[in-house]
Amino acid sequence: MITLGIESTCHTLGIGLVEDGKILSNIHDIYKPKNEGIIPRKAADHHSQVFVEVLQKNLEKAQITMKDIELISFAQGPGIGAPLAVGTVAAKFLAHRYGKKLIGVNHGYAHCKVSEYLTGLKNPLYLYLSGGNTQIVLLDNQPKVIGETLDIGIGNLFDNFGRVIELEYAHGSVLEQLAKKGKYVELPYTVKGMNLVFSGLLTHAERLYKQGIKKEDLTYSLMETSFSMVCEATERALFLTKKKKLVLCGGVAQNRRLQEMLGIMCKEDNVKFGVAPDEFNRDNGGMIAFAGEYLYKKYGTMPAEKWVMNTKYRIDNMKKC
Ligand code: FE2
Repeated sequence: MITLGIESTCHTLGIGLVEDGKILSNIHDIYKPKNEGIIPRKAADHHSQVFVEVLQKNLEKAQITMKDIELISFAQGPGIGAPLAVGTVAAKFLAHRYGKKLIGVNHGYAHCKVSEYLTGLKNPLYLYLSGGNTQIVLLDNQPKVIGETLDIGIGNLFDNFGRVIELEYAHGSVLEQLAKKGKYVELPYTVKGMNLVFSGLLTHAERLYKQGIKKEDLTYSLMETSFSMVCEATERALFLTKKKKLVLCGGVAQNRRLQEMLGIMCKEDNVKFGVAPDEFNRDNGGMIAFAGEYLYKKYGTMPAEKWVMNTKYRIDNMKKC
């Protein structure tokens, strides 16, 4: 069977096609705000403007037509309401117009499942790090979040700091390059069991920046400190669950220094460590198609009117996985 996946929870309009677990296409278009955070209305405008083009590119890449698709999968949440509504409406319209089955999937679950598949590490502990989410997740039977941020997501920490230092495009990838030129300065370190707190770190870094500490040094230190916190909480979760496999996923998983630190930690603890290619860690439609197809084959689906978007859809609110 062929499944079309639609991702629109945040800044990315992603569409992908999957055939029985094999990714046929995975094409996206990103809304990139300049000198400001994500404006929901502008993200929604972007997604609605590029939707048809991104869909057509996917169909061309996979050399199929809408007729060949059996299931349409869309990201139900969590996410920002306005852009999420574009993907939800588009998925429902396409399902109705072309007579396809429809399924909604949790965005974080899709990151975890596609990464599990691509790394080949079955039933691991998942570390899901992105702009809005920072969670340590188990997907054995019922999804469980066993550790998470108590305030902002780790990606938001970097994006917010990027705006403090007035980057035109405040994004983790830009900060990662800046951090390479920095030296360490001490910042607050807060781990509570398997939970994390990032906002004090942001406030302190902002204060030091206003006092004249170099942005390169602060960026480097912000990453070193927050990644060390993540490593500590994750190592505790690995020991507690006795898991011997760790899969890192989500947008922040693309950071090479984070991958290196977790890799060292896992090697020392005799834990297998895996991370999928960047293409599947940024927001993408391929993972939504993959997870939708997986859930459909396991549990079937419901009529289109039963599927709703949910901006606060937590992975542990999923009924089945
Ligand atoms: Fe994501």
